[in-house]
Amino acid sequence: MQVGDPSPSDRSSVDTPMHAGVGQTVAKIILFGEHSVVYGYPAIAMPLRNLRMIARVEPTTRPSELSSLGWVGPLDEAPARFASIVRAVDAALEFAGHPNARLRIETHAEFPPERGLGSSAAAAGAVIRAVLNAFDVDVEPEDLFDLTQVAERIAHGHPSGLDATATSSQSPIHFQAGATTAVQINLSAWIVVADSGIHGSTRETVGHIREEHERCPEVTRPRLAELGRITAEAVDDVRAGDVSGLGQKMNDAHRLLAELGVSNARLDQLTAAARSAGAVGAKLTGGGRGGCVIALARTSADAKRIAAALGMAGATGTWVYAPHAYEVAA
Ligand code: PMV
Repeated sequence: MQVGDPSPSDRSSVDTPMHAGVGQTVAKIILFGEHSVVYGYPAIAMPLRNLRMIARVEPTTRPSELSSLGWVGPLDEAPARFASIVRAVDAALEFAGHPNARLRIETHAEFPPERGLGSSAAAAGAVIRAVLNAFDVDVEPEDLFDLTQVAERIAHGHPSGLDATATSSQSPIHFQAGATTAVQINLSAWIVVADSGIHGSTRETVGHIREEHERCPEVTRPRLAELGRITAEAVDDVRAGDVSGLGQKMNDAHRLLAELGVSNARLDQLTAAARSAGAVGAKLTGGGRGGCVIALARTSADAKRIAAALGMAGATGTWVYAPHAYEVAA
C-alpha cells in the first residue's frame, strides 16, 4: 500500500456520495419564560434574523476537522466547549446513514457565545442542517428538532427545547412542553438587547434551580409558577399591544429570576440603567448570571437612547429590534 492510500477504515470518506453542504440558524431572545419553561410553563421567544449562525461542511480524506470560534483542529480533539457540536455531527451523520464519513466542519457566528442568545442550539442546528444538506437528505422539522435536542442535552443536560425551536424559527413563538405556535406581536414598541460581556453558563444556572427545587421546593415552586403566570398574561399583552403591561411584567420577571439566583450584579445594574433611561421594563434573557438583558422602549428614539445608556453602563454590544416587523403566517 502506498503512503496516502486510504486504509480500509478510511474508505467511507472516499465512497461517500457527499458534496459541500451549508446550514443556517439564527440567534434568539427569550421575552418571557426562561427557566420556568424547563418545568412545563410557557415561554415567548423571538428569533433575531440578522444575527446568523452559518455552518459549512465538505468532504475530506483526512480525519474530520472542526473550525469554530477561532479554534481549529481534529474533531476528535475538540475542547469540551465543542462537545455539543461534536455530538451534532455524529447524530447527523448517523441520521444520514454515513456514520464514518469524514468532514471538514466550519461554523461562523454573527453573535457571541454564552450570552443567552441560543448559541449552542444555533450551532448544533446549523451543523446538522449542513451535514444533511451535504448528503442531500430530506428531513422533517421534527427530525431536525430531535437531532438538535440530542446535541443540546450535551450542552445543557435537560433542555426544554425552546432554544432548538426558536433558533430555527421565522417568527416569534409561544412554546410550552414541546408544543410551538407562532405569535403575532402587535406591539408598537422596540426591544433593545444588550450584552453584559459576561459569559453565562446555562448548564450551571439550570442546575442551580434544579438543586434549589429539590432542596427547597416550597420557595422555588411558587416562583416558577409566578413566572409561568406572568408569561401566560404577557401573551395577552403582546397580542393586545399593551406596552405598559408588558414592561411591568418584564420587571416582575427579572425580580423573580433574581430571587431564583440566576441574575448577578451586572445584569441588575444594566436593567436598572435601562429603566432610568426610560425603558418601560427590562429583564435578563436566557440562562442568566451573565449574557444579555432586554429592555422595552416605546419609540425608536427611546430605544436609541436606552441603547446608548446601556453602552455607558458597560454593555459590550447592543441591538435594537422592532418585534412588530415580523410577518407571521396565518
Ligand atoms: O441561555 P440560553 O440561550 O441557552 O437559554 C436557555 C433557556 C433556559 O430556559 C434557561 C433553558 C431551557 O432549556 O429552556
